[in-house]
Amino acid sequence: MTKEDTDRRGRCVVLEEITDENWRAVADVAPADDQRRFVAALSARYLLLSLRDGTWNSLAVRAGDEVVGHVMWAYDEEDGTHWIGGMVVNAAEQGKGVGRATMRALMRRLAALPSCREVRLSYHPENTPAARLYASLGFTPTGEFEGEEIVAALSGGMAAA
Ligand SMILES: CC(C)(COP(=O)(O)OP(=O)(O)OC[C@H]1O[C@@H](n2cnc3c(N)ncnc32)[C@H](O)[C@@H]1OP(=O)(O)O)[C@@H](O)C(=O)NCCC(=O)NCCS
Repeated sequence: MTKEDTDRRGRCVVLEEITDENWRAVADVAPADDQRRFVAALSARYLLLSLRDGTWNSLAVRAGDEVVGHVMWAYDEEDGTHWIGGMVVNAAEQGKGVGRATMRALMRRLAALPSCREVRLSYHPENTPAARLYASLGFTPTGEFEGEEIVAALSGGMAAA
C-alpha cells in the first residue's frame, strides 16, 4: 500500500478479484450518460466479456467500503504486451482521484508480472479526461488505432507505477 492507493477523500482504493459478494456492485458500475459513447453503458458488459472469452480479467475497484469502479487487464500472446481496458468509475464517484489510484495500482500489479514489458490501452480521441489521465501516467500514443480509438503504450521500466 502506498499513498497513491488513496483517493482525494483519503479512502483506500483497492483492486479486488470478482467474488460472489462484489459482482453485482461491479456489474452496476455505470458512467455518466454522455460518456456512453466512449464505454459500455454498464460494466456488466465487461464482466461478461471476461467470463466469455477468457482473455480479459475483470477487477472490482473498491474505495473504502464501496465498489465504485471496474477495470480489466489482458495479456496479448501475439505481441507479448499487456492491456488495460474497461476502466469505468461510477459517474457520482468521478473526479475524486479514484481513476488515478486505480491505474497506479493496476500498473504496479502488471509490472510485477515477470512477463510484463509493455502495457497498452486505447481511448476515444474525444475522451479528454481519459487521455489526460493516461498521459499523466506516462502513456504515449503509438500511432496505431483500435477501431477509432488511439492506442497508447507505457514502456521503459513502468516508472510511473
Ligand atoms: C476516465 C475516468 C476513469 C477517470 O476517473 P476519475 O476517478 O474521474 O479520475 P481522477 O479523479 O482520478 O482524475 C485523474 C485525472 O484524470 C483527468 N481528468 C479526470 N476528470 C477530468 C475532466 N472532467 N476533465 C479533464 N481531465 C479529467 C485529469 O488528468 C485528472 O488528473 P488530476 O488528478 O491531476 O486531477 C472516469 O472519468 C470515467 O470513468 N469516465 C467514463 C469511462 C471512461 O471514459 N473510461 C476510460 C475509457 S478509455
